[in-house]
Amino acid sequence: MVENTGGIEALLQEDRTFPPPEEFMRNANIKDPNVYEEARKDPEAFWARFASELDWFQPWDQVLDWQPPYAKWFVGGKLNASYNCVDRHVKNGRRNKAAIIWEGEPGDWKVYTYWDLQREVCRFANGLKSLGVQKGDRVTIYLPMVPELPISMLACARIGAAHSVIFGGFSADSIRDRIDDSQSKVMITADGGYRRGGIVPLKQNADESLEGETPVEKVVVVRRTGSADDKMVAGRDVWWHDLVEDQPPTCEPEPMDSEDMLYMLYTSGTTGKPKGIVHTTGGYMTGTYATSKWIFDLKEDDVYWCTADIGWVTGHSYIVYGPLANGATSVMYEGSPDYPDRDRFWAIVEKYGCTICYTAPTAIRTFMRWGEEYPNRHDMSTLRLLGSVGEPINPEAWVWYWQHIGGGRCPVVDTWWQTETGSILIAPLPGITTLKPGSATQPFPGIEAEILDESGNPVGPGGGGYLTIKRPWPSMLRGIYGDPERFVQQYWSRYPDTYFTSDGAKLDEEGYYWLLGRVDDVINVSAHRISTMEVESALVDNSKVAEAACIGRAHEIKGQAIVAFVTIKDQVPTSDGLITELKAHVATKIGPMARPDDIYFAAELPKTRSGKIMRRLLRDVAEGRALGDTTTLADPAVVESLKAQYGDEE
Ligand code: WTA
Repeated sequence: MVENTGGIEALLQEDRTFPPPEEFMRNANIKDPNVYEEARKDPEAFWARFASELDWFQPWDQVLDWQPPYAKWFVGGKLNASYNCVDRHVKNGRRNKAAIIWEGEPGDWKVYTYWDLQREVCRFANGLKSLGVQKGDRVTIYLPMVPELPISMLACARIGAAHSVIFGGFSADSIRDRIDDSQSKVMITADGGYRRGGIVPLKQNADESLEGETPVEKVVVVRRTGSADDKMVAGRDVWWHDLVEDQPPTCEPEPMDSEDMLYMLYTSGTTGKPKGIVHTTGGYMTGTYATSKWIFDLKEDDVYWCTADIGWVTGHSYIVYGPLANGATSVMYEGSPDYPDRDRFWAIVEKYGCTICYTAPTAIRTFMRWGEEYPNRHDMSTLRLLGSVGEPINPEAWVWYWQHIGGGRCPVVDTWWQTETGSILIAPLPGITTLKPGSATQPFPGIEAEILDESGNPVGPGGGGYLTIKRPWPSMLRGIYGDPERFVQQYWSRYPDTYFTSDGAKLDEEGYYWLLGRVDDVINVSAHRISTMEVESALVDNSKVAEAACIGRAHEIKGQAIVAFVTIKDQVPTSDGLITELKAHVATKIGPMARPDDIYFAAELPKTRSGKIMRRLLRDVAEGRALGDTTTLADPAVVESLKAQYGDEE
């Protein structure tokens, strides 16, 4: 049963609109709505203008080479991402400007100017070279949110090695899969990271992931917590501080082809195996540069804070590459929002004078539940723009964010995009767009989005269907590492020459886009992408489990929560202890963020006559809804019995 908390009525009636505040509009980087029309007429020229604001060692001969579904951007051009994020600002008057303001969870903090960053990146790049890393190699990075994380990414970019960053919450098994797939020879990790007052044992996970056969030959270890001083493996492990100690602070940036791989990042899809999404240099840099500049309205004196973890794409594009390509000051925080108290984020905003804050709806809903007293403790008058990303934002959370964090004066940009898209594709331009809480509003100029029905017809105003992107855009994924077929199959086979996003969306009468969530078997838990198949594989990996089916159930704070239905092998007794054991098993196999909220035992799982698990029915059961059509069900009694047991629990 869904409880009526009083906010529901107001929420359903939320039809307020928010035009750009007068003063914001006056000062905005982009005020002229004609930019949409100009970009539509000549998207290549539109993107090329942004690309030409970057520094190229060699100009491109062709803006776009589009052989669907393969796109090449800025063909023949040569550039280096680390040069664009660091050196050109050192040369162009920003050398003593703060590039990264970092704060650790215990309260330690550090500022890196662009000049500092250049030296650190070069020293570490030289260190990587001394370990034998060469252009074209892959390097796995498994670090907490410490400055060495962006430094190692930029150092890889500098010497032409592709980084593969793995979020610090992933377990040893998940790391191992990703290392095997990328065939990285070097891994960068830390002894630990601080989280909610405790230490996350990264080195221990890393060591476990390297047991047995592994392509990794060298491990660089950042000393963050002092918790693994006795765990260094002779001949394999080297301390970061020892590696960089005698390295010179200069290192020539490798001229990279525009289409050379900049990085790969694993994300969950509809199968049990994560896919390594490949991004290349010229297009990705152009896309993240352009969207950061226009959507966040970046100005010279902004203090920009994206609260994401760099282990996810949001941190790659909007903590590291996008803001630094713009020469902005990017804030980075290591820990949890409630340590030592629930006002930590707002203390950070006040301390550094943040002007822009970009976070996820899950966090906003959590703050909402904690109450206004926490933001009210701090002077947050420096804020002028807010952003949201990662999952649909409900209007109630949007309005709370606008009111209690933004003081009713800051536009809220709801930004829709994916690991695959590389940069934001649907979002307002804050100096132009009238906002509607809950809508990501309009495609970015140069992006042609379309909502299609099953047969590929555009739905038109008022309709709902599948969100697709018609034209190639610079930062789009170039492939899935080592799996060219899956790339075509996953994204380009549904509709001809059109990118399939796997998201449902609705178009309102005024042409605004309302994102409705995934239409595939990907669950979005606290803005983290998790595949139902991955969780199911982790469950059946336990010797007591015969079969498992997972679904996402609507969750007030997290957006979705993972619910697993499990059938147990004969003779195994079911118990609360077994539920705890299975939840822990998933956390060990994948990572704590994939731990199911609920596990239900079922004598049988509902299947179609062809043997497919009917997840829709399980969702209905888990969310306590009346059951939909069950006529294709092989044995309707299965659902009835599930419903009888669990249907009324909520
Ligand atoms: C969802 C995160 C609604 C969507 C950047 C997408 C959103 C998936 C929004 C990608 C938004 C992201 N409104 N839904 N503003 N932003 N999503 O790859 O379902 O971790 O497909 O990239 O998150 O998640 P990913």
